[in-house]
Amino acid sequence: SAAEKGGWSSFMAKEISEEPDAIANTLLGRVVDGDVVLPELDPIQAALDDVDRIIIVACGTAAYSGILGKYALEKWAGVPTEVELSHEFRYRDPVLTSRTLVISISQSGETMDTLMAVKYAGERGANTLSICNTQGATIARESDAALFTHAGPEVAVASTKAFVAQVTALYLVALKLGIARGTLEPGVVAGHLEQLLALPGKLSQVLETGSQIRELARGMSDTRSVLFLGRNVGYPIALEGALKLKELAYIHAEGFAAGELKHGPIALIEPGQRVFVVVPSPRDSDSLHRKVVSNIQEIRARGAFVIAIAEEGDVAVLPYADDVLRIPLAGPMFEPLLAVAPLQIFAMELAAAKGLDVDQPRNLAKSVTVE
Ligand code: G6P
Repeated sequence: SAAEKGGWSSFMAKEISEEPDAIANTLLGRVVDGDVVLPELDPIQAALDDVDRIIIVACGTAAYSGILGKYALEKWAGVPTEVELSHEFRYRDPVLTSRTLVISISQSGETMDTLMAVKYAGERGANTLSICNTQGATIARESDAALFTHAGPEVAVASTKAFVAQVTALYLVALKLGIARGTLEPGVVAGHLEQLLALPGKLSQVLETGSQIRELARGMSDTRSVLFLGRNVGYPIALEGALKLKELAYIHAEGFAAGELKHGPIALIEPGQRVFVVVPSPRDSDSLHRKVVSNIQEIRARGAFVIAIAEEGDVAVLPYADDVLRIPLAGPMFEPLLAVAPLQIFAMELAAAKGLDVDQPRNLAKSVTVE
């Protein structure tokens, strides 16, 4: 009903507006005096001390949050990590030992493919940790330990606020492991925690740019195909931007790693092709930033219409982008949590401009409890 939507036009619009709270509530009580406090991990503490490999299993949007988790777990905690779709994982004889930690990510905690992957991992001697948004969910109960995201109930079929909460939880786990393993200097930990705690405020600023994104979407309602490019932590955001557009607006969309452009996707570029580019921070890695800007030049030269998602103050993209969506400075690992909202809003607004039901896209279910 309208009351349940709290004045918003859809549950999805309401849930995007709740993203800053989803992050803040997932952090609540877990960052204490410069440390990460996660008593939920106690049941697997001994295993965590000994873990030599992490496999993240999930489906859909949750799997893209897993890619960010992988980058954080390897960068901060130095644990080799891979991400696999739940339904692929258990049908290929993955190597699992008592030193393997399988982290499942699921908003609903009921996705059958992910549940079966967790059971499979447990039966084969791996340790299992569930990152889940729904209290009492089956996957959480079937895991050795469960860490809940506190995004609140998500009603719209397409996942939004759960995604940012999942990434937040994964970052907490990665920082906790990094502290325990001594792979992070205390000063670095402090900086990262500060960045995490500042995210809700910065994300609220991003949400204020919604009307610019709505204008952009309205002008693109007859678009047949949209590409999304990203690199490093921007790559899963490109994948998620494409998924959202498929789910909601039924537009063919694909996300690519920007470095892969020359190995195929650039053949798709023809005049008028819409391309979103998630631009890395120039402060983090000057070379990555320059490489992505040069990707933009290449596709622009072939007639692409480029929408850049770039950090405030990044002027290098201006000469080549047809439109720029700005996000506040947040530190490279944290910017994906700010860059995803504009893409979610874009997909939602484009679907709305086409007269589609953004909360209940055709053929999709919120929680897929069959294999
Ligand atoms: C369904 C939903 C997606 C979601 C995926 C995983 O396909 O439509 O939005 O990302 O399931 O759901 P989960 O509850 O496991 O996160």
